Amino acid sequence: MKGLKIVATGRCIPSKVVTNEDMSRIVETSDEWIRTRTGIETRHFCQGEESASSLAVEAARIALERAGISPEELGACVGCTVSADSAAPTVACAIQRDLGLPQGIPYFDLNAGCSGFLYGLHVTRGLLFQSGKPYALLVGAESLSRIINFQDRGTCILFGDGAGAVVVRLEEDAPYAHDLGAEGGSDVIYIGGFGSDEAYIHMEGQKTFRFAVEKVPQCVHRLLEESGLSLEDIDWFVLHQANKRIIDRVAKRLGAPEEKFFENIQHYGNTSAASIPIALDEMVEKGLLKKGQKIVCVGFGAGLTWGGALLEW
Ligand code: COA
Repeated sequence: MKGLKIVATGRCIPSKVVTNEDMSRIVETSDEWIRTRTGIETRHFCQGEESASSLAVEAARIALERAGISPEELGACVGCTVSADSAAPTVACAIQRDLGLPQGIPYFDLNAGCSGFLYGLHVTRGLLFQSGKPYALLVGAESLSRIINFQDRGTCILFGDGAGAVVVRLEEDAPYAHDLGAEGGSDVIYIGGFGSDEAYIHMEGQKTFRFAVEKVPQCVHRLLEESGLSLEDIDWFVLHQANKRIIDRVAKRLGAPEEKFFENIQHYGNTSAASIPIALDEMVEKGLLKKGQKIVCVGFGAGLTWGGALLEW
């Protein structure tokens, strides 16, 4: 079966660090409440000219440089975001423009909430089947600070900005399984349309929490079933970084060791579609990912959507 291999990663995080103490000067909250309920200690917010596109361009530049490929070998570039600077041009088109990438391949953004990167992986694989080119660029990029309601303490403390990029290659013998889905039309999490009075993130926290701890283990089991692997065969679980308690609960439900679940939510908060590629890039930097290891990535979020992929490193 033709699977996807991640060839290189990159990330770009805005330099402005916002601590829980800083958030407690904006809404009635505390460092203790945020840490114990979410595991978040800091998040980063864009400043000045920084945006989802500018972060995406830099993350993509790093990933392409590390991949050491010629841009002519790219078959597609997909941006995953819920917080693009504008509906058009897209984040993917900004990458094409700013990095001078070849014009004759598809560039577009997709929105599947915080599951965007997983949807993007699967779409990218399909595009590579068609393109005849070996590589694709996939970027998760968010500037959620633009669409946070800073009067709602139940949501504003959760989110942060950042971008993560991967260069992927279609490979003949690489194992691959995917599972995507949605409970559509839900208003458990929603972001009002541009220009509306509700153009920010709304969320019912407890319902979202329950959705995640139910769907993520189900998704993992479907991936294992499709690939014929067992839980013990998986070296790393890289879940969407939304809440440390969700990650811990999922580990417990699955009966998998907590050490196999990578966590960086403490530094970045929830960066939506960017959280998994940022996590992968940090894991590479820390030397955690070894050749031949099997990774399960699962995202969940607005839609409500979920998405999972099983990959070999
Ligand atoms: N600081 C202090 N108190 C807060 C607070 C904050 N930032 N946010 C909410 N509270 C208060 C509430 O007002 C409520 O007070 P009350 O009991 O006096 O009414 C109390 O804390 C409990 O609120 P609740 O919403 O039940 O808290 P919770 O334990 O469910 O934690 C979340 C809230 C948002 C942290 C948690 O539900 C969560 O993480 N859900 C999943 C979110 C998620 O993953 N979203 C992204 C998906 S992509």
